[in-house]
Amino acid sequence: MVKICCIGAGYVGGPTMAVIALKCPSIEVVVVDISKLRIAAWNSDQLPIYEPGLDGIVRQCRGKNLFFSTDVEKHVYEADIVFVSVNTPTKTRGLGAGKAADLTYWESAARMIADVSKSDKIVVEKSTVPVKTAEAIEKILTHNAKGIKFQILSNPEFLAEGTAIQDLFNPDRVLIGGRETPEGEKAIQTLKNVYSQWVPEGKILTTNLWSAELSKLAANAFLAQRISSVNAMSALCEATGANVNQVSYAVGTDTRIGPKFLNASVGFGGSCFQKDILNLVYICECNGLPEVAEYWKQVIKINDYQKNRFVNRVVASMFNTVANKKIAILGFAFKKDTGDTRETPAIDVCKGLLGDKARLSIYDPQVTEDQIQRDLWMNKFDWDHPIHLQPTSGSSDKKVSVVLDAYEATKDADGVCVLTEWNEFNSLDYQKIYDNMRKPAFVFDGRNIVDCDKLREIGFIVYAIGKPLDPWLKDMPAVA
Ligand code: NAD
Ligand code: UDX
Repeated sequence: MVKICCIGAGYVGGPTMAVIALKCPSIEVVVVDISKLRIAAWNSDQLPIYEPGLDGIVRQCRGKNLFFSTDVEKHVYEADIVFVSVNTPTKTRGLGAGKAADLTYWESAARMIADVSKSDKIVVEKSTVPVKTAEAIEKILTHNAKGIKFQILSNPEFLAEGTAIQDLFNPDRVLIGGRETPEGEKAIQTLKNVYSQWVPEGKILTTNLWSAELSKLAANAFLAQRISSVNAMSALCEATGANVNQVSYAVGTDTRIGPKFLNASVGFGGSCFQKDILNLVYICECNGLPEVAEYWKQVIKINDYQKNRFVNRVVASMFNTVANKKIAILGFAFKKDTGDTRETPAIDVCKGLLGDKARLSIYDPQVTEDQIQRDLWMNKFDWDHPIHLQPTSGSSDKKVSVVLDAYEATKDADGVCVLTEWNEFNSLDYQKIYDNMRKPAFVFDGRNIVDCDKLREIGFIVYAIGKPLDPWLKDMPAVA
C-alpha cells in the first residue's frame, strides 16, 4: 500500500487529501499538523473549515484510509510521498517584508523531513511558493540526507474555496513539475498514477520544476488582474452612466476573453491573490525587472482603490459623515460558501467606516464573532495564523456588534452594506428591512446581488458597484 503523508491540515491539505483518500482506496493518507486544535477538529464532527461537500467525504474515509494526526515525525517517516501544504504568508519583517513569501514553515518542514527519513521519498510542493523554491528545498534535503534519495516535485493547487470539492473532483488541470532526469520522470509518473485514478490523462500536465512553480503565481496574477480590470471599469461606468454588468457581458462573450471571473465587486480578498502577486512583484524586482513588477503591482493598487472608493461612497452618500450611525454589514467572509476571512475586503471596509466613527452590526452565516473581532482589532499578521490564536480579550469595542441574522443587523440601521454574495441575501424580505430602518434608508451593494429597481420602489437609496447612480448619489460630492 502506498502511503501518503501531508504536512499542513489547512484549507488545501485537508480537502485535497480527503479527495485523494476517497478516489484512491488503496492509498493510506495521513494529514499531519503542529496545531493540536486543528487536528482535534478534523477528528471531530465540527471540521475546522466550512467547505460544501467536505463533511460527507471525511465521514466516509476517516478511520479507513484517511487519518489526521499531530504525530508529524512518525507519519513522515512511514510515508512514500510527502506533500507539504503549509502556509506561505507574506513576510512581515526583515528582507522583503511586505512582499516576499515567508518560507519559515516550509523550511522547518523540509528540515524535519530530512531528519526523520530513513527511506527514499518523493517530496511534493503543494504550497504556493516562489519560483526556484524547489532548488532551496533540494539543498536542505540533500545536505541532511544521510544517503537517502529525495525527489522534489512541484504540484501547485488550483482549488478555490467554497468550490474546493468540485474543483478537486473535476480540475481544469493537474500540474506536476519535476526534474528532467530518469529519477525525476519516475517520480512524476508515481504522482501521476495517484491523480489518474480520477483525472483524465489529458488533464495532467507535466513540466519542469520552475514552470510549475511559476505557473501557479502566473495563474493567480491573471485571475486577480481580470477582477481589477473589471473593477477599474466599474468606476468609469459610474462616472458615465454605463452598467458594468452589461459591459462585462458584452466583453465576456468574445470567446478570446470568456465570460468567467468578470464580476465587479468591492474588491478581491482571500489568502492567495494579494500574497501571490506581492510575491511575484518581489521576484520580478529581484530579477531586475522593475517594469514588470510595476505592472503587477497595479492590480493590487486598483483593488485597494476599489475598497476605498466603496467606503467613500457610503460616507459621501450619508451627508459626508457616518459618525454614530448604525451600518449593517451583511457578509464578512471573502466570498460565499466559506468561513474564511483572510484578506476579506470586509476588513478594510469595516475599518474605513469605523475610522469615520460608524457603529457596525455585522452578520455572516459562517464567520464567528470571535474571528470578526480578531480581524478588526488585531494586527494584520494574525489573519494567517487564526488557528493558533487565543480568544481576543478586552480588544472588542462597543462600536462593533456581531449578530445572528440579517434582520437583527439591519434593525434601526441607517445603511446596509452587502459585502459577501451569500445566496440568502438575495431572498431577504427587503420591505421588512426597510420598515425597520431609519430614513432615509440606504443600501450599498458591494457584490451586485440586489435588485436595485425593486429596492428603489420600496424606498431605499441604492448604490451598486458600477451601476448607473441613484439620483440621490449624483448630487453628493464626487468620490475617488
Ligand atoms: P492554512 O494556514 O489553512 O494551513 C496551513 C497549515 O500548516 C496550518 O494548519 C499550520 O498549522 C500548518 N503548519 C505550518 N507549519 C507546519 C509544520 N512545520 N508542520 C506541520 N504543520 C505545519 O493554509 P492553506 O490556506 O491551506 O494554504 C496552504 C498553502 O496552499 C499556501 O502556500 C497557499 O498559498 C496555498 N494555496 C491555498 C489555497 C486556498 O484556497 N487557501 C489555494 C491554493 C493554494
Ligand atoms: C483563488 C484562485 O481562484 C484559486 O485557483 C487558487 O487556488 C486560490 O486563489 P480563492 O481565493 O479561494 O481562489 O477564491 P476565488 O473564487 O478566486 O475568489 C477570490 C476573490 O475574488 C474573492 O474575494 C471573490 O469574491 C473575488 N472575485 C472573484 C470577484 O470579485 N469577482 C469575480 O468575478 C471573481
